[in-house]
This record gives sequence, structure tokens and C-alpha cells, in this order.
Amino acid sequence: MRKNQMNVSAPGKLILCGEHAVVFGRPAIALPLSSLRAYASLTPGPAGSGLLIDAPDLARRWRPQGQDDDPLGSLALRTLERLALPLPDALLTLRSDIPQASGLGSGAAIGTALVRALAEALGATLPPEAVSGLVYESERFFHGTPSGIDNTVVAYERPVWFRRHLALPGDGEPPPPTVLLLAVAAPYCFVVADTGIRSTTRLPVGEVRRRWRAAPERFAELFDEIGGLALQARRLLEDGGPPLMLGRLLDQNQALLGEIGVSSPELDRLCTAARGAGALGAKLSGAGWGGVMLALTTPENAPAVATALHAGGAARVFTSELAAG
Ligand code: PMV
Repeated sequence: MRKNQMNVSAPGKLILCGEHAVVFGRPAIALPLSSLRAYASLTPGPAGSGLLIDAPDLARRWRPQGQDDDPLGSLALRTLERLALPLPDALLTLRSDIPQASGLGSGAAIGTALVRALAEALGATLPPEAVSGLVYESERFFHGTPSGIDNTVVAYERPVWFRRHLALPGDGEPPPPTVLLLAVAAPYCFVVADTGIRSTTRLPVGEVRRRWRAAPERFAELFDEIGGLALQARRLLEDGGPPLMLGRLLDQNQALLGEIGVSSPELDRLCTAARGAGALGAKLSGAGWGGVMLALTTPENAPAVATALHAGGAARVFTSELAAG
């Protein structure tokens, strides 16, 4: 193990379009949020001290034992097992600037930082695909049936086109998801607003599954429409298409998310406020019922949209640029 402290970080994320439908095998697009990050540091400890995890944000310090109700500790143990390395004598400190349960990928970011800190401090290299695969397992604990989009975009820290492949009955494990790193041809500017309402992903995801079971054909159509919007959005991003057209797609996606039942009065109010201030399009981002929404704007109009979002009751507003490249 390295003698010095090892510090690493991982970004938050935004889902540009396709959330929820992605759980049911339709494509979606996610963007890394590099300005909001989770951090992990590994500090060598005295010989024989074992591994201690410290999460000051959660006011918790503990030794991982591999229990089911300890997703982060279990992730640390699984990472060491995967690397065929023994438990280090070290203090693993986890911190995050990403608000929890807000649709910003806080769980995936902490998991990713944890895996990388352990691997890098112990001199091992894990490609993003392997990091993502390890974090997916702990996402299961938080989310129930995660699509895998959060751990993927966070591990690659690039805009991704993501499609989960569903297992057919009797077919065993499905093939791994299709992940494409998107080359974005022009910059786009987003203003992101947090409703301040924390929403656990598993609740709206569970409700959408319940509604889908009750009306499978109708929901399959809605998911197909959302997947179709994701495809159009991908073409626009890759061609550097007009922001006005991307904005329209976001508005259409928001209308469909409302139909599947995951928007909320607060999210609707913020989307309306953003559009009223000249945003080119607006939608919730993530699981919904709370958490964040995003508005596509021109760089010139971003301050006016931010002001309108504050006035519309947002608990926190920030701007994020999707750079070309
Ligand atoms: O983790 P959240 O709240 O950003 O939700 C992720 C997006 C969903 O499509 C709702 C769930 C998933 O696993 O893809």
C-alpha cells in the first residue's frame, strides 16, 4: 500500500432524458456533473489496525463486516476481493458535496470514489467498466432494480447513451448494457434547480412498476415514446443541433414523465417558472416526486432563468455547462 494518503473524487450526474423508461430497457442519456463531487481518501494506519470507514456526513465510523445493511462496507470488501487484495490497515474517509436523494447520483458517486481510493492506494488499476460494475451492486441496495445508468455515467465521467438489456423469462443473466460515450458537437447550458424535497429512488421506481403491471400496453407505449425522444436527443447532441430543438424534446419528456406519474406540483412549478423566464425546455431529472429539475437555456439567459427558479421556490440553483467534445 502507498505510504501517503490517497485522495480521489467522483462526479454527480444529471439524467438528460429517458429516466424510468431506462429501467424497462429503453435508452437514456446521462451527463456527468463535474462541479458537484464525492470524495474518498485512504490514510495508512498502524499495522494490524484493519480497515475503518469514516463518513462524517453520516456521523458514522465503522468496520466493514459484509452485512447486507452496510452497502458501502460491503462494496469495500467486494472491491478488495475483486482485486485479490487483503484488508488494508487504513482509514477510509468518505465525504460528499452532492445532496442525497435528489437525483444527482450521490450514492453512485460515493461508491465510485470509495472503489477508486481503495484500488489506487493499493496500486491496482480498475477500468471504468469494472468500477461501474462493482458500484452497480451497491446501487441495488439503495434502489431495488437500478438500470445501471447512474454508476455508468459516474464511473466514465462522460456523457453516456445507456441501454439496459432485459432478461427474458428462463434466459438467465441478460447481456451487459449498451454504453456509448457520446461525442457532443456543441456546448449546451443548463440551469439545475433542487426542489429541496428528498425523494428515495426506490419509491417512484416501485410505483411506476406497479402502474406498468396494471396497464402494461399503455406504459410500454409511454416508455417507447420516451426512448424515441432519447434517440432524437442523441442525434441533436452528436450533430450540435439547435438548442431550441433539444429544449422541445425536454418539454415532451417532462409531459410523458407527468403521465407516468413521477412529476410533482413543485417540479411542475419550477419547469413552468423556467419556461416563463425564457428557458428553451425544462424537465425533472432523476426519479422525480422531488429532487431536481433541469432547464436548457442560452448562456445569456441562464441568470434570468436562475432568478425565476429561486422565485419559484427552488432550495438551490446552479448552472452546468455540457461542453463540446
Ligand atoms: O437515482 P435517480 O434518482 O437519479 O434515478 C435514476 C433514474 C431512474 O431511471 C429513475 C432509475 C434507474 O435506475 O435508472
